[in-house]
Amino acid sequence: MGMTLLPVFALLLLICFYNSDDRLTPKKPLSVSNRLVSNGGIFALGFFSLQNSTANSYVGIWYHNIPERTYVWVANHDNPITGSSSGKFVLTNSYDLVLLDSKGSTLWTTTNNITTEAPGAAAMPLDSGNLVIRLPNGTDIWQSFHHPTDTILPNMSLQLSNNNNLSTHLVAWKGPDDPSTSDYSLCGDSSLQILIWNRTRPY
Ligand SMILES: *[C@@H]1O[C@H](CO)[C@@H](O)[C@H](O)[C@H]1NC(C)=O
Ligand SMILES: *[C@@H]1O[C@H](CO)[C@@H](O)[C@H](O)[C@H]1NC(C)=O
Ligand SMILES: *[C@@H]1O[C@H](CO)[C@@H](O)[C@H](O)[C@H]1NC(C)=O
Ligand SMILES: *[C@@H]1O[C@H](CO)[C@@H](O)[C@H](O)[C@H]1NC(C)=O
Ligand SMILES: *[C@@H]1O[C@H](CO)[C@@H](O)[C@H](O)[C@H]1NC(C)=O
Ligand SMILES: *[C@@H]1O[C@H](CO)[C@@H](O)[C@H](O)[C@H]1NC(C)=O
Repeated sequence: MGMTLLPVFALLLLICFYNSDDRLTPKKPLSVSNRLVSNGGIFALGFFSLQNSTANSYVGIWYHNIPERTYVWVANHDNPITGSSSGKFVLTNSYDLVLLDSKGSTLWTTTNNITTEAPGAAAMPLDSGNLVIRLPNGTDIWQSFHHPTDTILPNMSLQLSNNNNLSTHLVAWKGPDDPSTSDYSLCGDSSLQILIWNRTRPY
């Protein structure tokens, strides 16, 4: 009997430890010890640190089922949580995602700034790797696919721009342990060319 109960108990513990929920609501922020897993278990959203740079931590999305961590999106890539500070990832009542450190400073935020009532909004990672803020009627008011870091996933479209606005580029990490903005990026331009840039110069 004990032999059969033990695995069940271990499984229950695992289920409790990994909050296997897939959504973030204003009443239920994400803390350092939880993660959200997309409905079909393909992607996870949560806090992470990189192997050789454990003093910094980030909120990002990675493949849930690939043992070697592979990040596809990082929210606060230029503004890590540092040292012993802890973090909280919150959906506010005005439908913005905000990353706060333990002192309450904002490290990263969306700027939807919606003041109309729409109770029931939630943020969730989808099986496509997209993180969306979704109204109860199914409208997505923000999506990480429109704010990429360094990765294009299937069904993600690249915005074309004819200016040097880096916020629409895919930007390479500075190094394997540093997701901050490097000099190199990729973006289409208005004549439908895909270019690699060295800062603001085509490379
Ligand atoms: C971390 O450091 C070790 C030892 O210096 C090195 O072998 C390893 O490749 C580094 N990992 C990354 C991801 O840079
Ligand atoms: C958000 O909206 C309020 C009211 O319209 C405005 O006063 C405020 O400046 C806006 N904040 C941002 C960050 O856009
Ligand atoms: C891409 O979009 C198509 C059409 O909406 C859908 O059938 C397919 O599952 C999507 N692929 C991924 C990886 O999300
Ligand atoms: C969903 O609700 C929002 C806010 O109330 C509204 O702006 C939007 O048009 C609605 N979308 C649909 C498809 O009904
Ligand atoms: C760059 O693009 C972002 C997102 O499309 C926009 O909010 C911002 O105002 C743009 N900045 C400049 C300098 O054009
Ligand atoms: C990128 O541009 C900088 C100057 O802004 C230059 O020093 C550097 O060599 C360039 N990188 C490459 C790989 O050409």
